[in-house]
Amino acid sequence: MSAPGPAGPLDFLLTGAGQLVTGDPAAGEGPLGLVQRGAVAAAGGRVVYAGPEAGLADLGLAAATRLDAGGRAVVPGFVDAHTHLVFAGDRADEFAARLRGVGYEEALAAGGGINRTVRETRAATDATLEASAAGRLATALAHGTTTLEAKSGYGLTTEDERRSLEVLARLARLSPVEVVPTFLGAHLIPEEYAADRDGYLDLLEREMLPACAPLAEFVDAFCDRGALTVEESRRVLEAGFRHGLRGKLHANELGSTGGATLAAELGCVSADHLLFCDQQEAKALAAAGTVAVLLPGTSFLLRTGRAAPVQVLRDAGVRMALGTDCNPGTCYSESMQLMVALACVHGGLTPEEAVLAATDGAARAVGRGGRVGRLAPGAACDLVVLAGRSYLDLAYHLGVNLAATVVKGGAVVAGEGARPGAGP
Ligand code: NIG
Ligand code: FE
Repeated sequence: MSAPGPAGPLDFLLTGAGQLVTGDPAAGEGPLGLVQRGAVAAAGGRVVYAGPEAGLADLGLAAATRLDAGGRAVVPGFVDAHTHLVFAGDRADEFAARLRGVGYEEALAAGGGINRTVRETRAATDATLEASAAGRLATALAHGTTTLEAKSGYGLTTEDERRSLEVLARLARLSPVEVVPTFLGAHLIPEEYAADRDGYLDLLEREMLPACAPLAEFVDAFCDRGALTVEESRRVLEAGFRHGLRGKLHANELGSTGGATLAAELGCVSADHLLFCDQQEAKALAAAGTVAVLLPGTSFLLRTGRAAPVQVLRDAGVRMALGTDCNPGTCYSESMQLMVALACVHGGLTPEEAVLAATDGAARAVGRGGRVGRLAPGAACDLVVLAGRSYLDLAYHLGVNLAATVVKGGAVVAGEGARPGAGP
């Protein structure tokens, strides 16, 4: 913790944080690096100081943007480690059927589920697809998400997968949110290839990846019951690696299908869902340094009563992250605040674990550990002033937007104090 040097002009200065979550255990108390009466200073969009106000050499420092948190809590901007942001249509009727007891897999087998969203996404105009994704991204930002991973996966043709990634590239330019694009051409074997699964994987390898990899950072596959097998997923991920992409895997959401072991074996950056994960799989993930992305909205809304086995992951020392999984089928929410709450009340995380998983853990799950997700010198100055005195409010004060002010790279981009046009 060093005070900003007199040489550097500050762009941003926040004072009066009754409770500052730095996410840097070296900077404060406990795993969250908590500081009472905290301040954050930034230059060039990056944090130069995050610590006690008393440690700032001169509180009267000039900065283009000055904020007084007024005693409220301040947390790092949320990182959403897993979304399916680009899709057309909705599946509210399927959701209602699930409330009546119709399972997620039943809807998929009956021609609904992902296949239905694929049909609607293919039929949508570019403008419709982009406007709906932009709306969801703006909602995420308004709820404090400053970095967000987003997958293709509802196109499942070369043209439609590339179109989804192009939408994401445009949104990344237009929105203050940092968008991390993932190619999920292996979300499912599309209906028209049901009798020729290898034919689809040939297409994915020979045509889709060359067209899509330049627009993506990660490759992902839905390795699960009713989706891709372990061997099919391995083929997709290895092909993606040859195009310079890093790996993620939808693993063990619907059954114990070997996805977690595959993710560890391939050195994936993250393994996501993990509703089924035994000790051996958890140990493999920990040894590989693969982050477990927990999606508590999805496990809650699947209505099977199952959540990821947090104690098994903890015992093995697996790093945990959170994501919304925002998608029209299993969890239609853009709110990382809700995910923190559900992670605590349904997922078995402590509030400290949940907040860390929604920030630093998720940053690691998207390959940005240390760069975002914490308020420490050198990291992006992305933060949320909460409408509450404590980070505990995120789990405690439910169903309202607690993001009073959202800052990305030292600029107010949403909430109180945002200039018109600063948002997406
Ligand atoms: O992460 N599991 C695969 N994909 C999504 C669901 C997608 C959908 O149902 O449209 C998920 O839960
Ligand atoms: Fe997903």
